[in-house]
Amino acid sequence: MTKEAFHQDILQGIPANIPPRKEFDSSLNHAPKRKDILSPDEKKLALRNALRYFPKEQHKALIEDFLWELETYGRIYMHRFRPDYEMFARPIEEYPGKSQQAKAIMLMIQNNLDHAVAQHPHELITYGGNGAVFQNWIQYRLTMKYLAEMTDEQTLVMYSGHPMGLFPSHSEAPRVVVTNGMMIPNYSKPDDWEKFNALGVTQYGQMTAGSYMYIGPQGIVHGTTITVLNAARKMDVKGEGIAGKLFVTAGLGGMSGAQPKAANIAGCVSVTAEVNEKAVHTRHSQGWVDEVISDLDQLVNRVRIAKEQKEVVSIAYLGNVVDVWEKFDQENIYIDLGSDQSSLHNPWAGGYYPAGISFEEANKMMAEAPDRFKVLVQETLRRHANAINKHTAKGTYFFDYGNAFLLEASRAGADVMAANGIDFRYPSYIQDILGPMCFDFGFGPFRWVCASGNPEDLQRTDEIALAVMEQIKSVSPAEIQQQMADNIQWIKGAQQNKLVVGSQARILYADAEGRMKIAEAFNKAIKEGKIGPVILGRDHHDVSGTDSPYRETSNIYDGSKFTADMAIQNVIGDSFRGATWVSIHNGGGVGWGEVINGGFGMLLDGSDAADRRLKMMLHWDVNNGIARRSWARNEGAIFAIQRAMEVEPRLKITLPNLVDDNLLNDTFQ
Ligand SMILES: NC(=O)c1ccc[n+]([C@@H]2O[C@H](COP(=O)([O-])OP(=O)(O)OC[C@H]3O[C@@H](n4cnc5c(N)ncnc54)[C@H](O)[C@@H]3O)[C@@H](O)[C@H]2O)c1
Repeated sequence: MTKEAFHQDILQGIPANIPPRKEFDSSLNHAPKRKDILSPDEKKLALRNALRYFPKEQHKALIEDFLWELETYGRIYMHRFRPDYEMFARPIEEYPGKSQQAKAIMLMIQNNLDHAVAQHPHELITYGGNGAVFQNWIQYRLTMKYLAEMTDEQTLVMYSGHPMGLFPSHSEAPRVVVTNGMMIPNYSKPDDWEKFNALGVTQYGQMTAGSYMYIGPQGIVHGTTITVLNAARKMDVKGEGIAGKLFVTAGLGGMSGAQPKAANIAGCVSVTAEVNEKAVHTRHSQGWVDEVISDLDQLVNRVRIAKEQKEVVSIAYLGNVVDVWEKFDQENIYIDLGSDQSSLHNPWAGGYYPAGISFEEANKMMAEAPDRFKVLVQETLRRHANAINKHTAKGTYFFDYGNAFLLEASRAGADVMAANGIDFRYPSYIQDILGPMCFDFGFGPFRWVCASGNPEDLQRTDEIALAVMEQIKSVSPAEIQQQMADNIQWIKGAQQNKLVVGSQARILYADAEGRMKIAEAFNKAIKEGKIGPVILGRDHHDVSGTDSPYRETSNIYDGSKFTADMAIQNVIGDSFRGATWVSIHNGGGVGWGEVINGGFGMLLDGSDAADRRLKMMLHWDVNNGIARRSWARNEGAIFAIQRAMEVEPRLKITLPNLVDDNLLNDTFQ
């Protein structure tokens, strides 16, 4: 398609004439049929809601099709309106528009829907089974049209995928404000999502899906590498190193697909079970996993050899993870590290597959016999936990990967509670690793996208970031030396590890100082014409972005982990300190109603205004969370916030006074 035709297609928004129905493309991975939850009256309401995007005279022609979609897929995706042009992040100058910032957002939206990037691209799902960019294709079309028309004196307001419209604002305001899945708290149960999503009034935005900041599995490879590396350091009390150690886990989906690559970078043997053949094929053909085995005996033999020979190899097991845990127990295969990344934030709609039935049978059952499906999921969870317990009794270090595994297993009655009956018997990766080692010091998943689409720009930004990190490391305190070293090693190997899928993007864990200095150096290079514009962002899964009691804030022990002030403050603060777009979501990672998370995107264009904004916003964006973590008495955060106050005299933070344990114990005697 020519550039002109692409522009025309975007600028027409909703086509004047109804396009023909589209063939179902079975070569793509599709979302499972969603629960048929609406009453006949509610189905009428869903149709009324869908048809309000179209002129009255088209309603008769569309209503049958939309009802068919609702009954066939459980949702109205408006498939026939899917554009015919290829979906991918184009270089920024190829987008139509009056605002460079809006064009950057268009690029990021298209990246989230790229077939190589998105999990269910035709259902507008980027990752996590239900992480939606939009609810339907008309919302996509309208949003792109608004972005192509808007100026820097307007802000586009997004209500859960629906573009409410353009409102007058000013050049320093965000160009887009996104909310996803914001519910009145009492209406935030899983079935509320099913119902209100089917009605077309809300969506599950996950974290970086509905906020246009997903960069493919690379984003997660890095976090996973850091996690596996530090988990291995933690359990390696004898100092033997990670070579020949075995890591067992599940999931080769959107984020989970990064596990084998991360295990390779960390240098161990890994087995990742995955029930979906298409997901296995995708990751294997992309080179993210080395070998595929679908027979358990063969798997046992292969793993024995790999362990003995201390190979660095990643193996995908095509089948249910529970079978692996049980088989390895029977065969006495010692598992050093264990985790799980099935999508248990979404247990009843395709996030977790029961053992003993085929993938196809399970997909059928979850739509046609949801109660039976739930029973099987819970039975499998109990088996899963039992098998893990047998391994941990032999010495395996198991951690919850923030996918709500322990939460759902406990709800299924599995034996996963600690002796006090309140905590889980296994830590989450945040409690043990990312929280105390990274987030408390401000280290989190900073990322950038080269808007030119030029791989050479990415290489230059890698070099710039490396130089900045090395300079900072040379003068940084002992407390953050390990983090600096891991991240320097990461950025050095980034080009060689060929991590790019979709846009020319890079992730790097950095603290406030690192993020600000790297961004400043990028902006300078853009000004000097050495690189094109750069889009900054981060995962919501960060120091300040997310309140989630069983994940990001699971290492907050002052009782405030069930509050969401930090995430809300964060997005409000980012919005008036210069973010190009901001987003705040309910759900994401651990499930609807279980988390509030927010994030930002920022276009660097080499201007002085960008220089001012990046310093102001990134400083707040990290230090907000450190201040809260410090107030919760987290040791690393108290250290980090005091350091931040020394550097920036305008920063004045309320510090906690620590109470003597003896005083408390004596008082309660
Ligand atoms: N990677 C990270 O750093 C990270 C961090 C926090 C949370 N998570 C969580 O990890 C989960 C996975 O994320 P995702 O984007 O990969 O989701 P996804 O849905 O794309 O992938 C999960 C995969 O697990 C497979 N699966 C489900 N049940 C299985 C079973 N019993 N045996 C084998 N395979 C099974 C599914 O087929 C699917 O492909 C989510 O809940 C996410 O929130 C990941």
